[in-house]
Amino acid sequence: MSQEKTQVTLEKIVALCKRRGFVFQSADIYGGINGVYDFGHLGYLLKNNLKDAWKKSMIEIDRGQVLFLEGALLGPRAVWQASGHIDCFHDPMVDCQNCKHRYRADHIDLNKPCQNCGLKSWTEVKQFNMMFKTELGAAQESSAEAYLRPETAQAIFTNFKNMIAANRVKIPFGIAQIGKAFRNEINPRQFLFRQREFEQMEIEWFCKKETADEFFDFWQTARLDFFKKLGVNQEKLRLRKHEKDELAHYSTKCSDVEYEFPFGWQEVEGIAHRSNFDLSQHTKHSGKELAVFEEETKTSYMPDVVECSVGVDRLFLTVLFDAYTEDIVEGEERTVLKLAPSIAPIKAAIFPLTKKQLEQSEKILKELKKVDPYATLDLSGSIGKRYRRQDEIGTPICFTYDYESDVDKMVTARDRDTTKQERISIDKISQYLTDKIK
Ligand code: GAP
Repeated sequence: MSQEKTQVTLEKIVALCKRRGFVFQSADIYGGINGVYDFGHLGYLLKNNLKDAWKKSMIEIDRGQVLFLEGALLGPRAVWQASGHIDCFHDPMVDCQNCKHRYRADHIDLNKPCQNCGLKSWTEVKQFNMMFKTELGAAQESSAEAYLRPETAQAIFTNFKNMIAANRVKIPFGIAQIGKAFRNEINPRQFLFRQREFEQMEIEWFCKKETADEFFDFWQTARLDFFKKLGVNQEKLRLRKHEKDELAHYSTKCSDVEYEFPFGWQEVEGIAHRSNFDLSQHTKHSGKELAVFEEETKTSYMPDVVECSVGVDRLFLTVLFDAYTEDIVEGEERTVLKLAPSIAPIKAAIFPLTKKQLEQSEKILKELKKVDPYATLDLSGSIGKRYRRQDEIGTPICFTYDYESDVDKMVTARDRDTTKQERISIDKISQYLTDKIK
């Protein structure tokens, strides 16, 4: 029997991520780089499972086709001029003149002293563009100016006509993309929550203006369902409509899927009605017509867009917060990640009691790997310790090959969440695991 006693904090999540190799501070042997992280083996697997779940959620949409794209990370100035990011993608910044500490002006009270040095000596508030700028090749002229993309979406808009022509799709349809985005955040904070380099999963859904509101509602429901399917606690999820003064420069309405973190309700995903802002801007700036021609009515129109944009890393942090549990099992404290089995980095482990059982256990591991290629075998320490190691990384099922197994051809299967155990036949092990993790 287990008894829960959780008070999850950011510090506990950061410590677990480092201890078990989910996430490392990037370049930490050189003191680290602020707001940039590397993902270790388990982090890589969890991230990929989240991306797979997202791709699946896109393919399953039955209101039109969803195409996939992988756009470049670098974009010329012209793209960001058209998209409005050169002129509008700013955060207000203020420096302490005494200790030179930099803050986002809207995150602090300028009537109070600097939190770092205790003196009150602020510079003027300046607008700080968050894009990372670079130059292509050796040329100095402005045509060689390029930027790391601050959102993946623009490659979808600039390829809109290419994608239609190559795939012969009709409106409504979507273009989905997973990839890195870069923002020179003034104050990266809360670990993976606000980084300078992160990953986004975005879909731009192209539709006629008169259907855009209906699709906006459709996508709100579809995206909430996605979080439900990941097993995220419903009570910690909500949809919040943006007030007019919160809207990004491109959107006419927006709702956020928010999660209740220990540091408050925060956006994990944004669902935005972008009207035809981006396609119109790119038509104007590039001189290439991005309106579509409708055969039936013999008219051209600029489609509207509903966008759903979720950060992979922010989702990663959400599922970790949601799954993190400390409980007491048979008088002993344990940390357990109660991740949905479908996203758990490792789905199963096999424990031989002794080295003599290694050969049989390796045969079982081969079977388990048919279901999960990352299934693992652990021979070190007591069985209790081995359970704790797997619990902490969220492995849903552990099997023990014991002294009876040679005789009855069965192993003990133990459930991560309930810690209940049952004997199961070795020749049915892969089916057992398949059923447990779907
Ligand atoms: N294309 C629309 C767009 O980029 P956004 O609200 O700025 O909209 C979408 O970002 C999502 O990307 C956010 O909901 C969040 O999950 C993630 N995100 C944005 N900035 C981030 C950052 N600095 N670090 C980590 N994730 C971030």
